[in-house]
Amino acid sequence: MTDDLTRPLHAPRAAAAGGPGLFVTFEGGDGAGKTTQASLLERWLGEQGRVVVRTREPGGTDVGVRIRDIVLHHRGHIDARAEALLYAADRAHHIATHVRPAVARGDVVIQDRYLDSSVAYQGAGRVLDADDIRALSLWATEGLLPDLTVLLDLDPAAARRRLDADDKPFDRLEAEKEDFHARVRAGFLALAGAEPRRFLVLDAETAPDELAARVREAVAERLG
Ligand code: TMP
Repeated sequence: MTDDLTRPLHAPRAAAAGGPGLFVTFEGGDGAGKTTQASLLERWLGEQGRVVVRTREPGGTDVGVRIRDIVLHHRGHIDARAEALLYAADRAHHIATHVRPAVARGDVVIQDRYLDSSVAYQGAGRVLDADDIRALSLWATEGLLPDLTVLLDLDPAAARRRLDADDKPFDRLEAEKEDFHARVRAGFLALAGAEPRRFLVLDAETAPDELAARVREAVAERLG
């Protein structure tokens, strides 16, 4: 992967009237606790007086909500390449209409899942070529990479116990077998290993307050 593909490209940051914006993503398997950590970070940033935009993929826009319904709840088979393109379409629209404008304004964007989920789930999980999947997302988003990606790493068996305890019906991805989720986890860890400056990898079984403190520290460093 060439250097220019691993560099955040949202040039308007420095010129934003409200100060530099920041793009933070949370990644990890289903049940890793991303939503809890994103909420804790959102609260803390609000207390610091930052404008926060909280969003997610798939489903961060009106178009995205419809795509989310297909990829998570369509009954029956979806071809793996079609699935990858649906996530990329959601992402293209979301970044162009929602995320880039927010970062350009100087806001902090906190997002549940981004292109690393595509590389891990469609690449490692569905066994499509990881470089193709990454290139597709970078094309879709004109090369936007997060300033910080927090990976909440969790053993798939522990994740399954958490999801079972939630007592909600599984979506198409959650319903995949354990070896799928083991490949997804390994995919995320490989991505983090390749870009150690962008990723903060945390053990998702650590106490939530302690995780939140580590996340705050990493965000403060980037805002400072
Ligand atoms: P979540 O919003 O509840 O995390 O569910 C989204 C599901 O979609 C989750 O199982 C991961 C999966 N997913 C992909 O397979 N590829 C992607 O690019 C994204 C963003 C999510």
